Amino acid sequence: MSLPITTTPADVTSTQTVDLRSSNSALAALRPDDVVLTGDRPTGVLHLGHYAGSLRTRVALQGRCRQTLLIADLQALSDSSGRASHVAAHVEEVALDYLAAGIDPSLTMIAVQSRLPALAELTVLYLNLVTVARLARNPTVKAEIEARGFDRDIPAGFLCYPVSQAADITGFRATLVPVGEDQLPMIEQTNEIVRRVNRLANATILPLSRAMLSSTPRLPGTDGRKASKSLGNAIPLGASPDDVRALVDAMYTDPGHLRASDPGRVEDNVVFAYLRAFDPDVEAVAELERKYAHGGLGDVTLKRRLEDVLQQVVAPMRERRALFAREMSFVRAAIREGTQRADAMTRETLDRVRTAFALT
Ligand code: TRP
Repeated sequence: MSLPITTTPADVTSTQTVDLRSSNSALAALRPDDVVLTGDRPTGVLHLGHYAGSLRTRVALQGRCRQTLLIADLQALSDSSGRASHVAAHVEEVALDYLAAGIDPSLTMIAVQSRLPALAELTVLYLNLVTVARLARNPTVKAEIEARGFDRDIPAGFLCYPVSQAADITGFRATLVPVGEDQLPMIEQTNEIVRRVNRLANATILPLSRAMLSSTPRLPGTDGRKASKSLGNAIPLGASPDDVRALVDAMYTDPGHLRASDPGRVEDNVVFAYLRAFDPDVEAVAELERKYAHGGLGDVTLKRRLEDVLQQVVAPMRERRALFAREMSFVRAAIREGTQRADAMTRETLDRVRTAFALT
């Protein structure tokens, strides 16, 4: 099976990573001793954007290397401390989404960040290796500060979350991190910390990591804005058939495409973004794009095709999600066991890093 993913070498910068995305040889880039770690903030249920961007990569990697999925509840609190119970309630929801997507807890560890004290201690140690100016320059943090309107009232924990993410990645001694493009600055900053720790230790106690990007560009929300559960413009993995239909019907196409015979815009057309991400018949989609751009293809025809495609993608996930939701004791046990094993791994890393700081 060829996978729509590709990796970036450990020490290239984020700008250099982009042209590697056309390559389709993801599994070829996987090294036998790779350790995979990635995470999600439990601020809502996961949606098709998460699935196309990273979840399906993780499912493909499963069983081929050691893999951990971290439910990053502490990171979620860094901008949502006022919604602590909402975050807590979504820890199990995200685990259900993992299982719905096809993650098998006997092959992939599912762990909860706040139950891994070694990660918090690593964060505190790493904070000594990073300047405030460097944190403020992190492009993802900058964009998020703007989007959240923090202005001058930036929670210190939020400004520092890239350091906590470096603790996540290094805590598991991960070498491969499947993420969306917006996370590249985090991996760059993690590698800077890794180099500093290794210099301090005078030995390679932590490995560098590389990003694994999906070839699917970030999926827009159904209205063309950033996909987000709170905006109601994302398709959750557990969406009902009616929800899928309604969200497809509401999708933005080209506002200037009034009659089927008019030429239409394909570029920022949400329906085509989803077709490119999910329709298995790549040739047929390319043909539809030509026809749409030329004129002669109506939005309704196009949306019915997309709805068929998405119903088929979502149906098995919805069914698995419902199945596991009836077996919450299994889900909780999977989280507990994954977290226990993760606790042992991260404590081992902490021991090494404490030594680098002469804390014996
Ligand atoms: N920052 C990631 C996001 O917002 C979530 C995350 C937390 C993560 N820890 C991680 C991703 C470690 C990769 C590796 O989606």
